[in-house]
Amino acid sequence: MSSTDATPETAPSEDMLIIHGGTPLEGEVHVRGAKNLVSKAMVAALLGTSPSVLRSVPAIRDVEVVTGLLRVHGVDVELDGDTLYMDPTSVESAGVEEINVHAGTSRIPILLCGPLLHRLGRAFIPDLGGCNIGGRPIDFHLDALRKFGAVVDKDSDGTHLSAPNGLHGIRYELEYPSVGATEQVLLTAVMAKGTTELRNAAIEPEIIDLICILQKMGAIIKVHTNRVIEIVGVDELKGYSHRALPDRIEAASWASAALATQGSVYVRGAQQTDMMTFLNVFRSIGGAYEVNDDPNEGGIRFWHPGTPLKPVALETDVHPGLMTDWQQPIVVALTQADGLSIMHETVYENRFGYTSELRRMGANIELYSDCLGGTPCRWGRRNFLHSAVIAGPSKLHAADLQIPDLRAGFSHLIAAMAAEGTSRVYGVDRYITRGYENFEAKLLGLGAKIERPTSSLADRR
Ligand code: EPU
Repeated sequence: MSSTDATPETAPSEDMLIIHGGTPLEGEVHVRGAKNLVSKAMVAALLGTSPSVLRSVPAIRDVEVVTGLLRVHGVDVELDGDTLYMDPTSVESAGVEEINVHAGTSRIPILLCGPLLHRLGRAFIPDLGGCNIGGRPIDFHLDALRKFGAVVDKDSDGTHLSAPNGLHGIRYELEYPSVGATEQVLLTAVMAKGTTELRNAAIEPEIIDLICILQKMGAIIKVHTNRVIEIVGVDELKGYSHRALPDRIEAASWASAALATQGSVYVRGAQQTDMMTFLNVFRSIGGAYEVNDDPNEGGIRFWHPGTPLKPVALETDVHPGLMTDWQQPIVVALTQADGLSIMHETVYENRFGYTSELRRMGANIELYSDCLGGTPCRWGRRNFLHSAVIAGPSKLHAADLQIPDLRAGFSHLIAAMAAEGTSRVYGVDRYITRGYENFEAKLLGLGAKIERPTSSLADRR
């Protein structure tokens, strides 16, 4: 889905939020488990011979999608509050049609391959979804699976995999430290025969948390220096009990919203260790924060100190660099900084599409195909518009906005809240609910002036 696929003229009017901007966000929000760990932890449950329990599960659509995928494969999944119980003792193959019901909505189906090949000897990958922020190939995944011994058959309905001779450990070096491909190797290697050595692996905190889960299940995984991970395959894994690490992307989104609206937000659940790079950036821009490390009520308060924000030059990168998912909310805050800022996106080739909407709101943002951050990246040579220069401060004014993807969508919400006047933001249910739990209630709790369209408003369109 690109921003031009569903314009405000064609988007369903009920999937829209009216935002009266100009009010600082003040108050507290609670951030639960990370979307990008919880969905993978749910897949890991497939590997166990006994039930798993996952706590701090957010009520987001990606969890519903993976729940559906697990259920069609015979896993009994029950949610009680924010605790998920998953019983994989009767895992079974699912039909292509059953799996396809969940196609096109998430990137997770590809991660079921290793566990299903171990449990059932075959797997199927439907059309993958997720945000349209670049080509998002799956070549690393398929290449690694083939090396493990999987036979991969691409068909008109999707990709079918089998493992006629079982799966065996591999020595593999990723061309780029891909999060998903690292997870693919981990979820496959834990039960493959022999030892796997993965080089140039991603080491995001969500991956380390997944490794902790697999270790609880009985896996042997050694994280060495220099992005090398060694996995010794075992014959059997049991279920796990685990509390998901907090969502550092959601935490940073609220932090940026506080800064852009000149407000103050306490993000309960936010953890300093996983957000160090973001906190440094937040402070460099001129934002203020205070960490509360109470074991129960702990979190981080973020606020605008009232002094002008400062411009910065930033580059996104793999961990421990600046997360690509922090880029969009930070850019909105930078439209309010006093001077020229640079954002060089090095992870995805096409993650600045949302800036055209910000420009319509009065932001001064230019895109370049050069690597403006100083470090030449994969996209510079290939002419992708992957560097942004943001000239601030700009007075943002209201607009009708079409959300193009999840993170860009939240940054549109932030921009609308920082802007003067009334904006209409389309696509909130389709995109924001994928990764932000109860975002509307949270916004209202922070004093945002938002409302859903009434029929009269819808009629006027
Ligand atoms: N890549 C390849 N080939 C592959 C796999 C990846 O070329 O087979 C490239 C991608 O095209 C991209 C780069 O490697 O340029 C990094 O992609 P990665 O595989 O790390 O991303 P992912 O696993 O698909 C996860 C998150 C994203 C997050 C990235 C980077 C999930 C479900 N998604 O995606 O989160 O941006 O890692 O940290 O975990 C989001 O939450 O909104 C989101 C997009």
